[in-house]
Amino acid sequence: MTKTGKTVLITGASTGIGKATALTLDANGYKVFAGVRKEADGQALKEEASDALTPLLLDITDDDAIAGAAARVGEETGGKLSGLVNNAGMSLNGPLELTPVSEIRKLFEVNVVGLLALTRSFIPLLREAPGRLINISSGHGLLAIPDKSVYAASKFAVQAISDSLRLELRPFGIAVSNLVVGKVDTAVLGKILEERERLAMAADPDVLELYSTLFEFFDKEVKNLPGIPPEEVAKVIAEALSTPKPKAQYLVGPGARKMKNLSRLPRKLREGLMYKALYGGRRS
Ligand SMILES: NC(=O)c1ccc[n+]([C@@H]2O[C@H](COP(=O)([O-])OP(=O)(O)OC[C@H]3O[C@@H](n4cnc5c(N)ncnc54)[C@H](OP(=O)(O)O)[C@@H]3O)[C@@H](O)[C@H]2O)c1
Repeated sequence: MTKTGKTVLITGASTGIGKATALTLDANGYKVFAGVRKEADGQALKEEASDALTPLLLDITDDDAIAGAAARVGEETGGKLSGLVNNAGMSLNGPLELTPVSEIRKLFEVNVVGLLALTRSFIPLLREAPGRLINISSGHGLLAIPDKSVYAASKFAVQAISDSLRLELRPFGIAVSNLVVGKVDTAVLGKILEERERLAMAADPDVLELYSTLFEFFDKEVKNLPGIPPEEVAKVIAEALSTPKPKAQYLVGPGARKMKNLSRLPRKLREGLMYKALYGGRRS
């Protein structure tokens, strides 16, 4: 048994926010189950953590892996889980016209269906504790901007899932928090640039030219906009798991607050401002 006697599962703990959260909660005395997709990532985590941290091979799009993880965590925790952090996710940026449908399906399979499937299987363990559910959404789950139709749709879905489950699970004492995260300096930023490059290479040059302004704007944004370290997100997750009254929504980082403020503006004003930022004085 660890210092706190508390148990938590974090998905996508190989890098970034998930890894920082696994290590922070391990240091705070939680028994951490860290979902990874490669043995080597589990080993690497173990080298930085206490003996209590247990890596779990868990691809959230694999039903058998989810069932195996739920059975193992159930056995090792006496059937009680104090927290589930749905962090695993991927990005997909770019104009819809240039985005392959296979990539759209893959993203929804991870960011939405996988999250639902995993959560569904762990509700019995959360109910027994009772534990807390924390979903990692994004500023794009509050404000859908051009270039992000697919990613924003998946993060709006995460927000909807959090809102729905907050009331559905309240009778069991399970609190649900949605983390609206702004830009964080993790491996995902390199992945976004690579995937933008791939989309551009595969596109018809004449069609790509139609989106050149958008492409340049968001390439610069990924490269230049400052992000926060993943450890700051981990701190907020630790707070949401331990505070007596967890909030329904946590805004993490300046980007998240900015997006929330923009999302509250009247639509016409908001879209006018965004259009001007993207295209300058050009008329539609
Ligand atoms: N970084 C940001 O600016 C930012 C902003 C807002 C929200 N977020 C959200 O924060 C979460 C973590 O992102 P991050 O920035 O830390 O990115 P990251 O470093 O790329 O980490 C993503 C994690 O998700 C895992 N993953 C991907 N597909 C999976 C699957 N099918 N099953 C299980 N795990 C899977 C990855 O595992 P592998 O290493 O095996 O691929 C990795 O551990 C995501 O939900 C993301 O949308 C990030």
